[in-house]
Amino acid sequence: MKGIILAGGKGSRLYPMTKAVSKPLIPIYDKPMIYYPLKVLLMAGIREIMIITAPMDCEAYKRLFGDGSQMGISMHYGVQKVPRGIADAFLIAEDFIAGDSCCLVLGDNMFYGTDLEQLVQKAASRSTGATIFGYAVKNPRDYGVVEFDKQGNVLSIEEKPENPKSRYAVPGLYFYDAQAVGFAKNLKPSARGELEITALNEAYLSRGELRVELMRRGMAWLDTGTPEGMLNAAQYVEAVQSRQGIYIACPEETAWNQGFINDEQLRKIGEELKVTEYGQYLLSLLK
Ligand code: DAU
Repeated sequence: MKGIILAGGKGSRLYPMTKAVSKPLIPIYDKPMIYYPLKVLLMAGIREIMIITAPMDCEAYKRLFGDGSQMGISMHYGVQKVPRGIADAFLIAEDFIAGDSCCLVLGDNMFYGTDLEQLVQKAASRSTGATIFGYAVKNPRDYGVVEFDKQGNVLSIEEKPENPKSRYAVPGLYFYDAQAVGFAKNLKPSARGELEITALNEAYLSRGELRVELMRRGMAWLDTGTPEGMLNAAQYVEAVQSRQGIYIACPEETAWNQGFINDEQLRKIGEELKVTEYGQYLLSLLK
């Protein structure tokens, strides 16, 4: 399975911060925002990853991750010239996906919770259809909204509906089988001129191949798209990290837990960063 992190777009609700810096490079507390979605892909066992960025941002991501080998992964870079919609990711990444299944995560989505690993590994292990998630929110109008029956069958999915049919928003984390690129090619731009990820999900739904898994209480899905959202997310990360002495979203730790890198490789990264708390944390994992 391949992984895509979509880190393009304008991030206009965060102007002027995003005038010069791609939104997922802005820090959430002590690390770049993109570390949070990256950790989710690693947790799902995905080692081949493409980051899709606006043309001017690509170099910055390359400086951050290089070819990925430090984390035992293979990092690729794609460019989205114009923000044509989230589903455009599948057209840009067609050659990278190369007929494989694929997980897409938005560069500004943060997830945290004990169930997360099991949820994403289960979704990654399915070989057919698509899996999306449902998360109860107070303001479903701001998101894709999924309606489902008691057995968990999806009945409808709508993008930012005026009158939401449920209070379950669809987070920016999606698992697809090999059909996604083909379906994306047949999408028409929506009224707002975008290739909508919700329309791609509808293509799966109309074939009876869309599953929804609930992210339950205790799971955090945080929106970092506004200044308040960023502050809330940073406070959440700080509170958990300071209290528990663990890091939320340390991709090197996840890569090590997954066996992508061994003790020596982790030690080397920790040594390079040992003047920082982050480096000290990596070294402490080996004790
Ligand atoms: O956060 C989850 C929501 O994300 C879903 O519930 C919605 O169904 C989905 O449409 C999306 O809604 P947003 O309004 O949050 O999408 P936004 O346009 O803000 O884009 C989300 C991220 O994707 C953002 O960091 C920018 C990036 N992006 C977006 C577009 C449209 C790109 O890189 N390229 C694009 O063309």
